[in-house]
Amino acid sequence: MTFSTHTPEETKQLAVQLASSLQGGEILALEGDLGSGKTTFVQGLGEALGVKAYVRSPSFTLMNIYHTSHPTIHFLVHLDCYRLGPLCDLQGLELEEWLHRSDVIIVIEWPPHHLLNKNVSISIIFEMINAQTRNISLPLSP
Ligand SMILES: Nc1ncnc2c1ncn2[C@@H]1O[C@H](COP(=O)(O)OP(=O)(O)OP(=O)(O)O)[C@@H](O)[C@H]1O
Ligand SMILES: [Mg+2]
Repeated sequence: MTFSTHTPEETKQLAVQLASSLQGGEILALEGDLGSGKTTFVQGLGEALGVKAYVRSPSFTLMNIYHTSHPTIHFLVHLDCYRLGPLCDLQGLELEEWLHRSDVIIVIEWPPHHLLNKNVSISIIFEMINAQTRNISLPLSP
């Protein structure tokens, strides 16, 4: 289903809706151009899961890990593979301890192609329509 958002707040709200269907253990891939709202969406996930820290882009750190205050999902792991490209491999990023855990959600911006089929449970596509409008496709009923 594709939704149009017109403010960063609306994009975060969409993330809040998706968060209520997450069980824990999912890997989310966020694809779309620079500035299309991927990090904004992760900020919404953080709000929904009760992350108290400010969720910022991991474009230089590659990976940021947040504690949540959610009863069953205890960590939000946020990766940005833009700089590593195809070298971005879940096995090689000291991610092992976060994989396959039912109390962790992993979100990857700019996932390299080789990760998409094998590891990802939810794909979200962002399109920049104009300065304010984003089309966001994700598995969510209207
Ligand atoms: N409807 C909208 N949804 C989300 N962001 C919006 C929207 N309208 C305007 N914006 C602005 O677009 C920018 C989105 O930036 P954001 O960092 O979320 O993008 P990104 O997809 O993570 O980019 P990058 O690929 O560089 O990491 C922000 O400056 C935000 O204020
Ligand atoms: Mg980003």
